[in-house]
Amino acid sequence: MFLLLFLVLLLLLPGASSSPCAKRFFPPEGANHIVCVCNATYCDEYKDVELSSNSAHIFSSSEGGDRMTAKTARISKVGTLRGVSGRIKLDPRVSYQEIIGFGGAFTDAAGINIGSLSESTRDRLMQTMFGKKGARYSTGRVPIASTDFSKTRYSYNDNEGDEKMSKFALADEDRMYKIPLITRALNLTGGDLRLFSSPWSSPGWMKDTGKMEGPGKLRKGLEEAWAKYYVRFFEEYLSHGIPFWATTVQNEPTSGSLPSYGWQTMFWNSTGERTFVAQHLGPVLAASEASKNVKIIALDDNRFWLPMWANEVYSDPIAASFISGVGVHWYFDALAPVSTLRRTHEAHPDKFILATEACAGSLPPFHGPAFGEWERAEGYAKSIILDLNNFVGGWTDWNIALDTEGGPTWAKNFVDSPIIVNATADEFLKQPMHYAMAHFSRFLRPGSRRIQSSTVDVDDERVMHTAFVFDGQRIVTILNTVNVEKEIAIEEVGGTAINVNIEPNSITTVIWKKQ
Ligand SMILES: *[C@@H]1O[C@H](CO)[C@@H](O)[C@H](O)[C@H]1NC(C)=O
Ligand SMILES: *[C@@H]1O[C@H](CO)[C@@H](O)[C@H](O)[C@H]1NC(C)=O
Ligand SMILES: *[C@@H]1O[C@H](CO)[C@@H](O)[C@H](O)[C@H]1NC(C)=O
Ligand SMILES: *[C@@H]1O[C@H](CO)[C@@H](O)[C@H](O)[C@H]1NC(C)=O
Repeated sequence: MFLLLFLVLLLLLPGASSSPCAKRFFPPEGANHIVCVCNATYCDEYKDVELSSNSAHIFSSSEGGDRMTAKTARISKVGTLRGVSGRIKLDPRVSYQEIIGFGGAFTDAAGINIGSLSESTRDRLMQTMFGKKGARYSTGRVPIASTDFSKTRYSYNDNEGDEKMSKFALADEDRMYKIPLITRALNLTGGDLRLFSSPWSSPGWMKDTGKMEGPGKLRKGLEEAWAKYYVRFFEEYLSHGIPFWATTVQNEPTSGSLPSYGWQTMFWNSTGERTFVAQHLGPVLAASEASKNVKIIALDDNRFWLPMWANEVYSDPIAASFISGVGVHWYFDALAPVSTLRRTHEAHPDKFILATEACAGSLPPFHGPAFGEWERAEGYAKSIILDLNNFVGGWTDWNIALDTEGGPTWAKNFVDSPIIVNATADEFLKQPMHYAMAHFSRFLRPGSRRIQSSTVDVDDERVMHTAFVFDGQRIVTILNTVNVEKEIAIEEVGGTAINVNIEPNSITTVIWKKQ
């Protein structure tokens, strides 16, 4: 009898799911530092959304321990809900930018870590990132040759003077660490994955310093050869069945002017990038079958360069005809208000803005992974919501997976990742940041459109939200940075209302069908 009662209770419990998070707690005790552990035989999966006409689905992850926990709520009529502490009002008649996608980077470090797992654990990891019951990543960044998250510094053509790129060849790293994972990701997403590439540096001989690492510029007269190098990259990847959606011109081009910068980089300022794209990269990509549809993304650096950088590269009509948007990195967001992005959009409404790199644990004194730290999930969600609300079309994380130290990285630049591979145990740990990503990537499918929303009695600084429509669905994601529970009513103009219970320090996604 008791057992029966217990079973019935379990079934009725909100969030009772066939595969919940297998929690592991990290010190200090009582701090709620929780990761979800996956191995060859087990990984938590997220419940499918089957939208019915009278209920909304609610998914929540919280510092308290929810991990994509599913609930439902009744859909009522606007004005009928009582006892709420605040309201979010939606007006789908006013809409803004479209979602490009959410994802991470196929670095060598990610490939080395994922490749160190047994086949079944590896496949669970790929399912959790790209699969239908996982985060459903829809973008992927692929470095052109090596980065600081490689074991060595390598290029695809060390043959000095080979300006025709006739001796260009992919590296073992591509064949071992990148291509197999990208192929699997393309399969899991049914090809619905927008891949974009970024070079960190040209081969050493093409730079005025002779080496890939450290500041320096492309040697004069090698612009055409350098543009061919991108084309050869796209040709080689296409020959492995991997098409690209876009490329950035250069990862963090301004780092190439910093005297103390030690990693692979190459300098462009905005005028240099504009000329290179207008006269070389744009025409050379357009002239090749393998790259003629590859979009060009400028900047790919911190947003404090905006709107100046965008104004400069779009000021030349030829460069502007080749450049589809700008990429932004989050590292020095504190130095430029998020309205910088909105102002950039307003000046260039036909061009997109995409967040192309971010990671936690990159700045001293908090280098490397912090196991189960909720604050880092909150950092991701806050950046994503602020970006989306200021016309950014998507958000791309850095390394898809790192090891327990936050590497490998030849530069010893250890950082954190949403997925930490613990190779000795053939397992991987899903950090709170993974769920922060999944709350957006899983529900805001490419093509979703942001709509107007406003609040009543909600402290917008600390209870942030963003609202979208997609295929008749409404999707609202709320970040509660306060350690207090909230009752919020979501109301659509002239339509429906849903009462949502928001956990303390949590991320909540609410999704329902237009009535
Ligand atoms: C895999 O994880 C499941 C769920 O946590 C656990 O029961 C099982 O013992 C683990 N397997 C190994 C080999 O550690
Ligand atoms: C994914 O791989 C399986 C097995 O090889 C294959 O049957 C399926 O058609 C592939 N799907 C896509 C979308 O490529
Ligand atoms: C970029 O560098 C070139 C050459 O050094 C210089 O002429 C140009 O003014 C610079 N552009 C900007 C925006 O600083
Ligand atoms: C990794 O696995 C080892 C061996 O099972 C274990 O002792 C260690 O605590 C794990 N590391 C983390 C960060 O969970």
